[in-house]
Amino acid sequence: MTPDQVESALQGLDSGLESVRSAADLQSLEARRLELLGRKDGALTNVLKSLKDLSVEDKRRLGSMANTLRVKMEQALDERKAALEKEALQRDLDSLQIDLSLPGSSSPCGRLHPLTRTLDELCAILSRMGFAWAEGPHVETDFHNFAALNIPDDHPAKDSHDTFYLSPGSLLLRTHTSPVQIRTLQSMRPCSSVRIMSPGRVFRHENADASHSSVFHQVEGLYVDKNVSLADLKGTLRSFLQALFGPQTRMRLRPSFFPFTEPSAQVDIQCALCRGEGCAVCKRLGWLEVLGAGMVHPNVLRNAGYDPEIWSGYAWGLGVERIAMMRGRVQDIRWFYQNDVRFLEGWQ
Ligand code: PHE
Repeated sequence: MTPDQVESALQGLDSGLESVRSAADLQSLEARRLELLGRKDGALTNVLKSLKDLSVEDKRRLGSMANTLRVKMEQALDERKAALEKEALQRDLDSLQIDLSLPGSSSPCGRLHPLTRTLDELCAILSRMGFAWAEGPHVETDFHNFAALNIPDDHPAKDSHDTFYLSPGSLLLRTHTSPVQIRTLQSMRPCSSVRIMSPGRVFRHENADASHSSVFHQVEGLYVDKNVSLADLKGTLRSFLQALFGPQTRMRLRPSFFPFTEPSAQVDIQCALCRGEGCAVCKRLGWLEVLGAGMVHPNVLRNAGYDPEIWSGYAWGLGVERIAMMRGRVQDIRWFYQNDVRFLEGWQ
């Protein structure tokens, strides 16, 4: 081809760009691409090939014209292709009649039950304070649940621990987590110090009402070592209750009775709402009862194989539901077991 022929061929192809921009569908666009840029017989490809026979000067001038045209062409092909693909997609969507602006259906996300969360939090605090996790069976022997804890058969304290007996006299559903004290001490013999927390489910033969349930949860704490004193118990409980209810929390011990501790105490915290003045939440008392505690009774140590002349210890037991009710201002213990999502979702 002469330089003039090359030039007029390029001008002709320039006006051919229009046919790319107006290609009606993807097939005819591909046909146009092959006609223009196809490797074997594309019109522009042929022009580019013929450049090699021209003089250096023509090659430079016409070569740059040809390259600019190639770039324009490729751009036009890409743009038309994208536009045609978009149109095709829109046609598909129109025919499917999908409304992409409709909000999707969300699937509800579950979370841990309030009691599990309270229990986890209690155990996390105690574990930071050095208490190790200990568990015991729900089905207990009379020995572990009562006798070893200094509650003989005819003792009136057994009345408040009426339970479900599985076989006459011996197997029963445990009424508290205190039998884990006996099991742990027994398993640690001969005589090493013990510092455990024992969370779990307990059972009592109760009529259900706003504050009673025949199945509930407790966390037991037990520390046995040499020279453990009531001061250790007070200090530990204060740190524990302040970690749970806030650093301003005030605590008091009231003399009480449990067969397995001596001395025994009910532990109260000052009502945070009225700061001890008395209000509806604390029933005008200014204080709220949170747990039972005391120094491990010498008989209990002896029953588990520990010499009370050498060893001493403290223990406490608390109700998980009670703590959760205080913190979440829950008025009825039964709400925890009804699985009403309105209650569960309201829990912070
Ligand atoms: N086991 C007692 C109860 O369930 C609570 C308790 C545990 C009290 C340990 C003192 C020491 O009532």
